Amino acid sequence: MNFDDPRTRCDHTTAWQRLRAHYESAGRSFDLRAAFAQDAQRFERFSQDAPHVFADLSKNLIDAPTEALLLQLARECGVVAYRDAMFEGRPINNTEQRAVMHWLLRKPAPGHTGQARVAIDTVAPEIASALHDVHATLEDMLALAERVRTDDGITDIVNIGIGGSDLGPAMVVKALDDLRHPGKRLHFISNVDGMELGSLLRQLRPESTLFLIASKTFTTAETMSNAQAARAWFLDQGGSEDARARLPLARHFYALTTNLEAAAQFGITTTLGFWDWVGGRYSLWSAIGLPIAIAVGAPQFRALLAGAHAMDEHFRTAPLESNLPVRLALLDLWYRNFHDFSSRSMAPYSHGLRRLPAYLQQLEMESNGKGVDAHGQPLPYATSPVVWGEPGTNGQHAFFQMIHQGPDTVPVEFIALREPGRDLPDQHPRLVANALAQARALMMGRPEEADGHRRFSGNRPSTFLVLERLDPASLGALIALYEHRVFTSGALWGINSFDQWGVELGKGIAKDLEPRLATGDVQGLDPSSAGLLRRLAA
Ligand code: F6P
Repeated sequence: MNFDDPRTRCDHTTAWQRLRAHYESAGRSFDLRAAFAQDAQRFERFSQDAPHVFADLSKNLIDAPTEALLLQLARECGVVAYRDAMFEGRPINNTEQRAVMHWLLRKPAPGHTGQARVAIDTVAPEIASALHDVHATLEDMLALAERVRTDDGITDIVNIGIGGSDLGPAMVVKALDDLRHPGKRLHFISNVDGMELGSLLRQLRPESTLFLIASKTFTTAETMSNAQAARAWFLDQGGSEDARARLPLARHFYALTTNLEAAAQFGITTTLGFWDWVGGRYSLWSAIGLPIAIAVGAPQFRALLAGAHAMDEHFRTAPLESNLPVRLALLDLWYRNFHDFSSRSMAPYSHGLRRLPAYLQQLEMESNGKGVDAHGQPLPYATSPVVWGEPGTNGQHAFFQMIHQGPDTVPVEFIALREPGRDLPDQHPRLVANALAQARALMMGRPEEADGHRRFSGNRPSTFLVLERLDPASLGALIALYEHRVFTSGALWGINSFDQWGVELGKGIAKDLEPRLATGDVQGLDPSSAGLLRRLAA
């Protein structure tokens, strides 16, 4: 599978040089308050609607000339051709020779009569065939979810997985809790620390528990340890490998994986598969989404897919200047490579979205935390910012002090919902007011204050996203927005956002060290590792 990368590295473009000059002459000293004073239409000019998401970019350190140069950069870098290569199913994950097609998981079935109708003859035969498989598996998954939902004997569903096999489904299930089947409790176990699984098992009964072993590879050490421990517990509590027994393992363990053989060896007979063109951190739309489908049911899962698909279409077809993922990615580059801001704080003012920052940490930093371009050449500029955060208003009582008055500028991304959730709706205006207040305070500051302790410099940038409500369609669109933003910033930086070689080295070393903890063997180790191993050895 050959792939001619259509991109030009961002620092080799004319726009990059012009942005450098523009930053020195105007960007560095840009003042938000002056920008609003000079342009009464600034809010209208720098805000936009995208499917299910309204975005106000006006409190960012940009003006029309800056954005024009950034858009020129996107054009010169070949973002459009690279985006099209993804949607054509080309192997843009060049180090693993794989296509990148999580978007296909959201594409309606051929002949679908909804607003997002797909003409099957407009896609290549390989994609049409993959789309057919996607829908066959989706129907199987939704039917399986329905079986679990209507099985009153199963009350607890335990998803055992890590990284992309945990963070996406866990985040979505929490976000859609108002829609969860009242008779089903969903648990997510990821850490190899026995405390996590052990403390859960103490509360469970084997006959009412279903374990989902979620692992694209079915080899990940943490997941395999927890899966084996769950299996041992189940057998110890009266479970059996015999399919005819009262408590058969096969009824209480399902696998979600591309490695069907390994799942079968584990003794699992109910397996939902997916494909190597679905990256782990992009997999919640695939079989890995089974816990979501169990929690909220088929129509809601389809709505999640439809919301994401609407954002896919926006990203695929909207002109760059009104393409929200592109505009956000360009801002990320402007802040990271010109202003030198090293992190971005996520502030969802929504308890339901409390795991969004953790989810985005993997999505963004595992995708774009790279120091070489797609051809392995060292990059002379910074890439992914550190992404971190907590839901509002909790963050205000923790680290917002630093964001308001610390010497570093940390762009903040607020997310607010127009409609309240099910519980205590009267508190919603207070939540929203706080989000608005923080964004305004960061921008306006209180620079005139004489007392230095009480002075706020202001001019601190933020983006403000608004969803009508936290429902499956909005959530699907929001997640797809982030996926495509990460795609675009990776495209601009010239990197392969779809591999993760950086996780390999530590894995290998852990394998070597684990038996040494039992024997105390420190041969060949550096003095620090040796000293610590002696301390930690049993
Ligand atoms: O952290 C590395 C990684 O490969 C992630 O990309 C992935 O989501 C996670 O491990 C889990 O992998 P698997 O689903 O194969 O168990």
